[in-house]
Amino acid sequence: ATAPAGPVSQLGFKPVAHSLADTVVVPPGYTAQVLYAGGDPLAAGVPAFKNDGTDNEWGRRAGDHHDGIEWFGLDAEGKPSATFSSRGVLAMNHEATTDEKLSSFFIHANGGTSTLPRPAAEIDKELMIHGISVVEVRRDGRRWVTRQDSPLNRRITTLSEAVFTGPAAGSAHLVTRFSPGGTKARGTVNNCGTGRTPWGTLVSGEENWFGYFFRDAQDDARRNDPKMVNAFNRYGRRAGAPSRHGWESGGSEDRFQRWNTGVTGASAREDYRNEFHTFGYVVELDPYNPNTLLTKRTALGRFAHENVSFAVPVAGQPVVAYMGCDARGEYIYKFVSSEKWDPADAQPRNRLAAGDKYLDSGTLYVARFNPDGTGEWLELSPKNPAIAAYRGFDFKTQADVCVFTRLAADAAGATKMDRPEWTGVNPRNGEVYITLTNNSQRTPATVDAANPRAYTDLKAGKEQKGNVHGHIVRLAEATPAEATFRWDIYLFGSEADADQATVNLSSLTADNDLSSPDGLVFSKATGICWIETDDGAYTDKTNCMLLAALPGQVGDGRRVTLKAGEREVSTPAGKAQTPATLRRFLVGPRGAEITGITETPDGRALFVNIQHAGENTKMADIGDPAKYESQWPSNAGYGAGQRPRSATIVITKNDGGVIGS
Ligand code: FEO
Ligand code: CA
Ligand code: CA
Ligand code: CA
Repeated sequence: ATAPAGPVSQLGFKPVAHSLADTVVVPPGYTAQVLYAGGDPLAAGVPAFKNDGTDNEWGRRAGDHHDGIEWFGLDAEGKPSATFSSRGVLAMNHEATTDEKLSSFFIHANGGTSTLPRPAAEIDKELMIHGISVVEVRRDGRRWVTRQDSPLNRRITTLSEAVFTGPAAGSAHLVTRFSPGGTKARGTVNNCGTGRTPWGTLVSGEENWFGYFFRDAQDDARRNDPKMVNAFNRYGRRAGAPSRHGWESGGSEDRFQRWNTGVTGASAREDYRNEFHTFGYVVELDPYNPNTLLTKRTALGRFAHENVSFAVPVAGQPVVAYMGCDARGEYIYKFVSSEKWDPADAQPRNRLAAGDKYLDSGTLYVARFNPDGTGEWLELSPKNPAIAAYRGFDFKTQADVCVFTRLAADAAGATKMDRPEWTGVNPRNGEVYITLTNNSQRTPATVDAANPRAYTDLKAGKEQKGNVHGHIVRLAEATPAEATFRWDIYLFGSEADADQATVNLSSLTADNDLSSPDGLVFSKATGICWIETDDGAYTDKTNCMLLAALPGQVGDGRRVTLKAGEREVSTPAGKAQTPATLRRFLVGPRGAEITGITETPDGRALFVNIQHAGENTKMADIGDPAKYESQWPSNAGYGAGQRPRSATIVITKNDGGVIGS
């Protein structure tokens, strides 16, 4: 183990310029190495990845679309360690897959089948490329390597058995053919952001899971339950909506039919009407113990979960977690445990038992932002009179609230935000940062103090409307368990040349301008706030990026007043940025989003996920590599074939120093 890093008080690297090149760009003095790409073998005897669409055994390979990622250290004997920095496991999400008209075309030999019904053999591959993977890694001199035959390597897919815990476990909402008692589920899907619990496990958010389901056009009538139909609509599945990949069309077998969440039998025990309700949770995995099951923690609510970040735990105080629901006009949530933190649980004998203790009972809240810079956490339970009186759904129990959380939050009067993505807690002062990535549906009529921008941006001759470039809001609480907070807008995304009075309110320059902040993780080693982008609105000028920030605190700026159509909106804004406080560190390859990020405890290795390089490739061009939008990472010397792959890279400083210093 190397010496722990101290806090970084000055960013020590040269800002990286905008780039449209098909490569990962990092500052001079740094090296980015490709470590672990989609399809890489995770068990002894699995053949090397050919990357030509003929590879099989996806249940024993890295999945697709690497997203949130967390480091779990191992000591020299292979035991869990919070301090060792040269050996560990990386646990990460495989959110989705690059597709066009149903087919995940890069993993099929000819691009696959883009019409219904889809062949079972294609679907069987696609069912396995989603989920979570765990892979052992170690430092070997200057380089990092994965260990193909590690007993800790593991895949969780859409078919892995999982258990429900918390208020909704065993409730009628979760009764299925698979689990007549409503206590078990099958698999996880569209896992987006991650978190690391104070007791050393992975948590992962199920985000756009609803799109994988088909619901028959007659299902509204068959259900004959207007409030349940209302709930399906609120979760994005109107009757007759097609599914993303047509998995329900693969045949009569259960693993295909379950994606058709309609009423077809006499009861929920005989059909798939409730399969839809078995997704949308925070799931917990013990990456140190492959013999444990995935756990779905229903107390944290059901929505389009991005990630989970934890307040720094304090002995004798509740464990507190912050979460966003990423869709236009959705909400920010927090969970406060009933049990108080016992520091002995930082190294528990049974990690998932610690999860049971802290994540299965507590209070779920949703945020309301007031125009004056204060805010409230509104309790989500039938005890809240607004929820008890709600007419759109009958909330009788906490199980109802935990399964139909979005409707409970509507009833409570929460503030509709511009797509809440990652939350992150500043280890220096406990403030909570939340990225609001963008919102094309924000209009001058619906702006508010916390979501104050709605404008028109001309991009390569194409008009984009709403909050085009997104922003980052932050909260300060007296203690994390508090039901009130103060807030301001830390950062407004913008292009450097935009008007500083209306769009570029943070005074961004060519060294630090960004659009659509998404991933946001504070380094525990250095205190640096890492910000990652998913910026469709800026990709005409630069690929997506990673920036390093040294933020101040809530209230360090001034109020600004913005015109929105005929109205004016006044908002508390953080101070202007300079390259000393915010600086671009990395730009990714073509078509890629920069997703998860984690580090070794010594701050000397940074693992970054590069998701969906080449995603704008046309399915018809499969077989003609010159037409692929990207050939990364094969063009960086990694792996066979020229099809682009999602991958984890590891960044080190050439002098062995702390990243960002
Ligand atoms: Fe999977 Fe909201 O990003
Ligand atoms: Ca995201
Ligand atoms: Ca995003
Ligand atoms: Ca994504």
